Amino acid sequence: MRASNHLIGLINFLTFLLSIPILGGGIWLSTRANNTDCLKFLQWPLIVIGVSIMVVSLAGFAGACYRNSFLMRFYLFVMFFILAALIGFIIFAYAVTDKGSGRAVMNRAYMEYHLEDYRGTWLEKRVSDDSYWAKISSCIRDSRTCAKMGRVVGGLPETADMFYLRKLNPIQSGCCKPPTECGFVYANETVWTAGGELVGTNPDCTMWNNDQEQLCYQCNSCKAGILASLKKSWRKVSVINIVVLIILLIFYVVGCAAFRNNRRIDNDEPYGEARMTKSQPSRIQL
Ligand SMILES: *[C@@H]1O[C@H](CO)[C@@H](O)[C@H](O)[C@H]1NC(C)=O
Repeated sequence: MRASNHLIGLINFLTFLLSIPILGGGIWLSTRANNTDCLKFLQWPLIVIGVSIMVVSLAGFAGACYRNSFLMRFYLFVMFFILAALIGFIIFAYAVTDKGSGRAVMNRAYMEYHLEDYRGTWLEKRVSDDSYWAKISSCIRDSRTCAKMGRVVGGLPETADMFYLRKLNPIQSGCCKPPTECGFVYANETVWTAGGELVGTNPDCTMWNNDQEQLCYQCNSCKAGILASLKKSWRKVSVINIVVLIILLIFYVVGCAAFRNNRRIDNDEPYGEARMTKSQPSRIQL
């Protein structure tokens, strides 16, 4: 008789389970020691969405178990806004990361990043903003991302040829070394001596400093590296969000249908029971 109630309970339970990977993903992103440490704000939407899905699905689960239609209504109502927020977040994430990518460099395995490729985007304006950039760049410096780039191969420091074959991430490429076009000569990963053939139209070429506290942290290539790194992480988060959205939408539609079905049965029931209790004795009388 109450099949739809069981269905709602089941759906809420599955929704609850679904919130665990979202939350876990958010926490994992925010705790792992990687180069996007300085961009932690990215993980918050995921954690907030994960927690709200968890709370709301628990409410819906309780509502189905205890046949509490207030909790069920609460679940359906709030879930609507969560779905809307999720859709908004996905659109936003794609809209702000629509432009720009790394450029391939001759004889280098790593890409290099140019701020021009990201110019005019909302995210670029945010990152280039002086006060904001001061925070991000000092955070990158403190994270020792560049210092950790040093490699020892067979007891010896890495040679230039080995370095050129490395796949650097956008932040390492943009912030820890001078752009290749400046013609600096490799000494180690973060020390480059000025070469004879300086081709300096790029302002980053004069920004480079072998002082391990400065490096290319003020370069445009560093800002571009950050933007490229942001783009990568936002796209990853968006993929998770799209999968979650599709599953949640299916659950939501099924949940709504089951709830309406339940209410129909509730409304019919008084008649049904009344008929039963009236007809039963009469049949016995016969
Ligand atoms: C490169 O050499 C400098 C100076 O010797 C040193 O301070 C720095 O840590 C080295 N860089 C890396 C990445 O090992």
